[in-house]
Amino acid sequence: MKNELLIIGCGEIGTALIDGWLNKEKEFFKKINHINILETDLKRKKVLKNKYKKNISFIDLKKNKKIFKYVFLSFKPKDLNSNLLLYKDLFSNNTIFYSLLAGKKISDLKKYFIQNKNIVRVMLNTPISVNMGTIIFCTLKSNLNKSELFFLNLLGDVHKLKDEKFFDLITVLIGSGPAFFYYLLECFQNKAMAHGLNKSFSKKIMNNLFLGVAKLINNSEYDFKMLRNKVTSKGGTTEAAINSLKKSFFKKIINNSINNSIKKAKFLGLKK
Ligand SMILES: NC(=O)c1ccc[n+]([C@@H]2O[C@H](COP(=O)([O-])OP(=O)(O)OC[C@H]3O[C@@H](n4cnc5c(N)ncnc54)[C@H](OP(=O)(O)O)[C@@H]3O)[C@@H](O)[C@H]2O)c1
Repeated sequence: MKNELLIIGCGEIGTALIDGWLNKEKEFFKKINHINILETDLKRKKVLKNKYKKNISFIDLKKNKKIFKYVFLSFKPKDLNSNLLLYKDLFSNNTIFYSLLAGKKISDLKKYFIQNKNIVRVMLNTPISVNMGTIIFCTLKSNLNKSELFFLNLLGDVHKLKDEKFFDLITVLIGSGPAFFYYLLECFQNKAMAHGLNKSFSKKIMNNLFLGVAKLINNSEYDFKMLRNKVTSKGGTTEAAINSLKKSFFKKIINNSINNSIKKAKFLGLKK
């Protein structure tokens, strides 16, 4: 039997979920009837309707008679509040919630979904939109069955985390991780442009640089440090660049930025 799926809050990460699933629509729609959405932002709703057309439906709370088996919570952490009680008729005790909310613990979610047998805390990133996401989850039940993992497996590489205490770190490394790389590429591109290379050429060579590095890492048995050492010959240009990063305490800068992000995740988790 096919099930009903609901996304509550469909911004950046909600659309990444849909893109990833629709890339594999044949498989996806074997198990799922339809992608249903609850979204409070009217402008956003228009954009979503134009983009996904018949593949999605918006829920009208007054008319809806469906009960949803799988519910993805993808609004901002601050929106985990009593407004959600308006949606209570959409769920049964068997509804499984997948929470993507940074900082919010399974115990925070349990307060809103008291009767529900399973809540899954998930951290993932926007590469799910091209089915190359990194997806980490913790669950209230001891494990997830094949059907419960199905939606996550379609989106990329899925890992179970036994201990929820690592989740704030995972949120930074995995959820925010893409932004670190985008920022580095942005710096490279800006420097290329400052030297007179044009914007599209600079972007093209940075794209290719990143793709090549990703592929090489994936095919190599060496760890990251070894890969770096292999391209850093003594007295050469790369060594000059890396030494300059070391002198500027690059490692410390990265450590501090991760620590600050973990702090923010903890703060968002506490904020009502
Ligand atoms: N973006 C990422 O790369 C990423 C990665 C991993 C995890 N996450 C997590 O994913 C969640 C969403 O992030 P995002 O970047 O996609 O945020 P976003 O772009 O702001 O999207 C959230 C959407 O949810 C809507 N919304 C808020 N409360 C709602 C409610 N009660 N019912 C229905 N819709 C509601 C918002 O509308 P309004 O504007 O009207 O409030 C907004 O359009 C966050 O909890 C974040 O921690 C994000």
